[in-house]
Amino acid sequence: MQDGRKDYFMGLKILGTGYYLPETIVTNEDYTRIVETSDEWIVKRTGMKERRITEQPTHVMAERAALKALENAHISPEELDMILCTTVTSDYITPSMACIVQGNIGAKNAIALDINAACAAFVYAMDMAHMYLQHGYKKILIISAEGLSKITDYTDRSTCVLFGDAAGACIVGWSDKGFASVLGSDGTGAHTLFARRPLNDIPFVEQVDPQSVDHFPDVNRPGVLYMDGREVYKFAVGAMSHALRDASVKFGTTPEALDIIVPHQANLRIIQSAAKDLGLPVERFFVNIDKCGNTSSACIPVGLAQLDEAGELTPGKTVGLVGFGAGLVYGGCVFEL
Ligand code: ACO
Repeated sequence: MQDGRKDYFMGLKILGTGYYLPETIVTNEDYTRIVETSDEWIVKRTGMKERRITEQPTHVMAERAALKALENAHISPEELDMILCTTVTSDYITPSMACIVQGNIGAKNAIALDINAACAAFVYAMDMAHMYLQHGYKKILIISAEGLSKITDYTDRSTCVLFGDAAGACIVGWSDKGFASVLGSDGTGAHTLFARRPLNDIPFVEQVDPQSVDHFPDVNRPGVLYMDGREVYKFAVGAMSHALRDASVKFGTTPEALDIIVPHQANLRIIQSAAKDLGLPVERFFVNIDKCGNTSSACIPVGLAQLDEAGELTPGKTVGLVGFGAGLVYGGCVFEL
C-alpha cells in the first residue's frame, strides 16, 4: 500500500468536468437474445438495466469529454500543461491515447501520457495530478475513456452483461484545501481479471503456449476480458471500504463527513456492502450503474461530471472517490471542492 499524500496544504480542485456517452443503448432484454440470461437476474445481481456502446474509437470519446470539460472550465486547450489519459482500451499500442487527444484538441503546451490502472485509474490519475501540481503544473486534464465493448466476450454471460462504453474528463488545478489518497496493488490476484493480448504469428519462432509463460488460466480467446467474478467481488468490498476510510483519515476527516462519494460502478451490491461496512447510508454514494453499467475507469469521472451538471459540486463540499479493478488495484482519494 502506498501511504498517500500528507501535504494537506497543497491540494487540488476541480476546474471543469465533461462526459460523453455513446448513443446506442443496450438493454438487459437485448442480452437475452445472445446469451442465456434474464432482466431479473441482471437487475438483482448487479443493479444494471442498460449501458451504452459504440464502434467509434476510444480516443474520439475521450476528445468529446475533454472538449466539454474545457468549455465547462472556460479555459482554452493551449492553457493545459498536462494531459493524463486512463484506459484499458486504447486504439493504438503506441502512441498513447493522451498524445492523440493532445494533437486533436490542439493542447500544444501539454505533455501527454497514459496510465493503466484498470477501473481504479482515475483515482491513480488524481494522485499523479496532485503530485505534478506540487511541481508547478497548473492545469491538468484527466480523461478516462473506455470502449469496453471492444474487449467484451459476448458469448460469456457472466461478464458480457456488465460492461459499457463512456468517457469522463476532469480538469484539475492547485488549491490550498488539501488532498489525501490511498492506493494499493495486489498482483497475486492478476489472473482473476485479465484480457490477453492476441499473439503475433512470428515466422521465425515456434508459437508459444501462453500457459508456459504465465500462470493465468487458459479460459478464453486473447483480446477479450475474463473475470473470476466471485474472487473480484470479495476483493472489491474490502478494498472499497478500506480505501475510503483510510483516505478520509489521512485527510483529517471521517467517511461520515464526506458530502459526496463517487464509487466505481461495478456492481450495486458491492456499493451497498461498502456503505454498510462504513456505516453510511447508501444514498451518500453516487450511482448511475442502472444507466451506464461498468465503464471501467470512466465510471468515476462520468459520475463527477453528472453531479457537476446537476449543480452538486459546490464549494466547501468534501468529496471521496473510490475505485478498484484489474491488477488487482484499488484507490481512494478525498479533497475539498
Ligand atoms: N444471467 C444468468 N445467470 C448468470 C449470469 C447471467 N448473466 N451470469 C452468471 N450466471 C449464473 C452463473 O452461471 C451461476 O450459475 P450456477 O450457480 O448454475 O453455476 C450463477 O449465476 C451464480 O454465479 P455467480 O458468479 O456466483 O454470480 P454472482 O452473484 O457472483 O454475480 C457477478 C456475478 C455479477 C459477476 C459478480 O460476481 C460481480 O459483480 N463480481 C465483481 C465484478 C467486478 O467488480 N468487476 C470489477 C472489475 S471490472 C473491470 O476491471 C473492467
